[in-house]
Amino acid sequence: MSPFRTLVAVKPDGVQRRLVGQIIKRFEQRGFRLVGLKMVQVSEELLDQHYVSLHKKPFYPSLLRYMTSGPVVAMVWEGHNVVKSTRMLVGDTNSAEAMPGTLRGDFSIHVSRNVVHASDSTEVAQKEISLWFQCSELIDWECCDHGNIYH
Ligand code: TYD
Repeated sequence: MSPFRTLVAVKPDGVQRRLVGQIIKRFEQRGFRLVGLKMVQVSEELLDQHYVSLHKKPFYPSLLRYMTSGPVVAMVWEGHNVVKSTRMLVGDTNSAEAMPGTLRGDFSIHVSRNVVHASDSTEVAQKEISLWFQCSELIDWECCDHGNIYH
């Protein structure tokens, strides 16, 4: 699995607020390459593995309810320093601390509805990508910059 890939997920509030396109746009305009994309109704079993370090937190039951309240759009983005840059694009976990210009700083006012998930280290990214995606769902495409793509 490439160390230059990360998992991003538009959470149920982001999908319901029609923010998917705007979120994808931030990653595309930065220059990252989309290599996986799907809409999923996430199971509690997957979330238990995804949020394994949070099981004992008081907010965990409400986090599970929120994350299963509607579909999530999961993506894998690839590029130089993608894990770190993506966390910068997403902004602080706590929306009140997230800088304007970041996704959470622009679209969220509360930690419990913070619109988007992004892996927080290269190791975690590799684990999360294998949890959310099959290898066959990740496509290693090349830029077709010679000739007309419609021919
Ligand atoms: P965490 O892994 O600490 O943050 P991040 O998503 O930035 O990697 O927390 C996971 C999610 O748990 C977070 O995005 C929102 C939720 N959460 C709460 O609902 N309340 C809280 O007090 C915290 C710290 C997190």
